[in-house]
Amino acid sequence: MPATIVVGTQWGDEGKGKLTDTLAKEMTMVVRYQGGHNAGHTLVVNGEQFKLQLVPSGVLYAHITPVIGNGVVVDPRVLIAEIAQLTAKGIDCSRLKLSGNAHLILPYHQQLDALHERYLGKNSLGTTRRGIGPAYADRAMRVGLRVQDLLDPKIFREKLEVVLHTVNPILAKVYNRLPVDAEAICQEYLEVCGPQLAPYIADTVGLVHDALDAGEHILLEGAQATFLDLDHGTYPYVTSSNPVAGGACTGSGIGPLHISEVVGIAKAYVTRVGAGPFPTELFDEIGDYLVDTGHEYGTNTGRRRRTGWFDAVMMRQAVRLNSLSEIAITKLDVLDGLDTVKVCVAYEYEGERMTSMPYHQSVLHKVKPVYAELPGWKTALTEATEEHQLPPAALDYLAFLEEQVGVPIRRVGVGPGREQFVERSRT
Ligand code: IMP
Repeated sequence: MPATIVVGTQWGDEGKGKLTDTLAKEMTMVVRYQGGHNAGHTLVVNGEQFKLQLVPSGVLYAHITPVIGNGVVVDPRVLIAEIAQLTAKGIDCSRLKLSGNAHLILPYHQQLDALHERYLGKNSLGTTRRGIGPAYADRAMRVGLRVQDLLDPKIFREKLEVVLHTVNPILAKVYNRLPVDAEAICQEYLEVCGPQLAPYIADTVGLVHDALDAGEHILLEGAQATFLDLDHGTYPYVTSSNPVAGGACTGSGIGPLHISEVVGIAKAYVTRVGAGPFPTELFDEIGDYLVDTGHEYGTNTGRRRRTGWFDAVMMRQAVRLNSLSEIAITKLDVLDGLDTVKVCVAYEYEGERMTSMPYHQSVLHKVKPVYAELPGWKTALTEATEEHQLPPAALDYLAFLEEQVGVPIRRVGVGPGREQFVERSRT
């Protein structure tokens, strides 16, 4: 009954979809446990690109049951469109299971997200404006509508009335906007979305436990990442759910003793979209090089990502927060062209050296990175399929990261394809 969690260890976009997709070969079920269509996974299979937002990456394998867990917030329009796109490309989505307890993102969530960001002005969080925060806020306020409500018109209407009791005055009086047309929502969601999604709606907690009881290996796939976590990230510049490994339990309905391993995924450098502190951020030509070579533009929103050197201080914190048992490093090939490669080993603040992350956010905003500089390898890695084919300087870089972080690096990404992971020996 093993369960493996895949968790991002930086600020997202580490390549979780690709790793999940690689590991999926040995799994029977892949469960998304939090987030919504703020996530975007790009997968390249046999040269064909797939962009997924809600459907777990394992859908590309015929033997996998892809599950959207209770911890996810679901925009029905987006999910329906994604299923249609995948189906048009010949991918069978009939195995997809959608938790009846997952919360719905409705049009007013998206509208409120955008309006709130606009109101914040220069202090905006840089959200994806997909309505994620407002949907989770309604969930916490106990006024959210859930996927199962799509199947019960009476409950759907009653709950909508309750939530619009406050949403409509906010739209009208705070933001000077038209109120939500409840009837239009009922028509679209009860008459169109509900029937279309009904075949997928299920008791996913029961399914997950049936699989575990049968001794199957399941994979729990997070979206976003450790430092976008609502509790442990760089608040308020975070998402509104718990991407950390602990979130996998609540978001899928299993207890911690079911978890057999936690695989942390990190880029060989760091990227971030949206606002918030970023100690190793680069504003020079190397930052531009990383954007250009790593194609660092959001899968979802197209925004240019901020880039910086690998931060071992953050990574040590990610090891603690997630109980990482191993690490996968992606995009090592992006560093191929550099003469030297830096790794942040500590922070400096008011003359003091810190090897762990400061708890106070104001300090994190002001720390200066302390770097170790290692020789680059100046060799294309993309053809490497085995560890011994990696140049000594690249192996030294990986060994240095392991020494800094204290957790083995078992896989190294050297290109976008799902086969482009070099497995490292277990010593
Ligand atoms: P939200 O999740 O749309 O509320 O956005 C909150 C923060 O999380 C913003 O800084 C977003 O850029 C960031 N974010 C949300 N989803 C992702 C993702 O999948 N990758 C990277 N950043 C993300």
